[in-house]
Amino acid sequence: MNWSDEHVSSDIQEVQAALRGSGRLPRHVAAIMDGNGRWAQMRSMPRIEGHRAGMESVRSVVRACSQLGIGYLTLYAFSIENWKRPAPEVRFLMSLLEMYLRKELDELHENNVRIRTIGKTNALPKNVSRVLQRAIEKTAENDGLTLTLALSYGSRWDIQRAMQVIALDVRRGKLSPEDLTEETVSAYLQTSYMPDPDLIIRTSGELRLSNFLLWEAAYAELYVTEKLWPDFHANELYHALTEFTQRERRFGKTSAQLSDTETPKPSTLERLRNALK
Ligand code: FPP
Repeated sequence: MNWSDEHVSSDIQEVQAALRGSGRLPRHVAAIMDGNGRWAQMRSMPRIEGHRAGMESVRSVVRACSQLGIGYLTLYAFSIENWKRPAPEVRFLMSLLEMYLRKELDELHENNVRIRTIGKTNALPKNVSRVLQRAIEKTAENDGLTLTLALSYGSRWDIQRAMQVIALDVRRGKLSPEDLTEETVSAYLQTSYMPDPDLIIRTSGELRLSNFLLWEAAYAELYVTEKLWPDFHANELYHALTEFTQRERRFGKTSAQLSDTETPKPSTLERLRNALK
C-alpha cells in the first residue's frame, strides 16, 4: 500500500499539515525504544509480547515519518549489550526482526524507504543477516525516508572502531594527525551517511542515552516520555515533533544572535495539541 493513499482523519491531516508548514521539522529523528518488557509485565504477559507490540509501534512511526517527509529515522532496535539477555528473548528479538523485514520489505520499498543498519552486524544470525542484506540492496536507490536499524549497536564500540581505523590510516600515511578534524571523525563513524540527529526520543521515562549515538547527539534535542514503546504510535510522535518545533536551538549562541528562521514561529502549539487530544 502506498502510504500517501492511506485514509487519515481530517484532524490528523491538519496536524501533519501544521507540522510540515512549521518549516521546523527535524531532518533526523532517532528513538530509543524502551519499555517493551514493562508493557508486557503490566499485562501479565511474557516480555516477548511487549516486543511484538513494539513492532506495531515501529510500523506506525516509520509510516508517519515517511508521510511527513522526514529524511532520517534511526531506531535503537538491539544494543550490543542486549546480547546478555536470556537466550530465548534474544532469539525472539532476532526472529521478530526477520519477520518485520520479510513482511514489510515490499511496502517499505513501494514507499521509497531506504533501509540501512549500524552496529556490529556480523554478530547477527545468518538468516537475519541475509534478509537484512536483501532489504538494504533492494532499497539502496530509494531517496525517501532513510530507516536505520541500530542492531548489535553501541556508540562506544563504533567510536573505538573508528579510532582504530584512523590510527591505521595515520600509520599508512593516508591521514596526518594535524588534519584530524571533527568532520574527519564523523566520516569514520558508521553513521557517516546521515546528518546528526536533531531529535532523540526515549520512551518509558528513563533519562539516559544508553550508549546510543553519543558523538552524533552533541546538539540533539532530547524528548523523554513516560509512555512505554508499545504505546508510542504516530500520535505520540506528533506530540514529540510539536514540542520539537517549539524548541529554540541555539548551538551555543545567545537567543539574541539567532535569525528569524532559527527561532520558533508564533505558536501553532495549542491548535496542534487540541487536534491531538
Ligand atoms: C527495549 O525494551 C527494547 C528492546 C531491547 C527491543 C526493541 C525491539 C522492538 C521495538 C521490536 C522490533 C523492532 C524492529 C525494528 C522490528 P525493554 O525490553 O528493555 O523493556 P523494559 O525496560 O521494560 O524491560
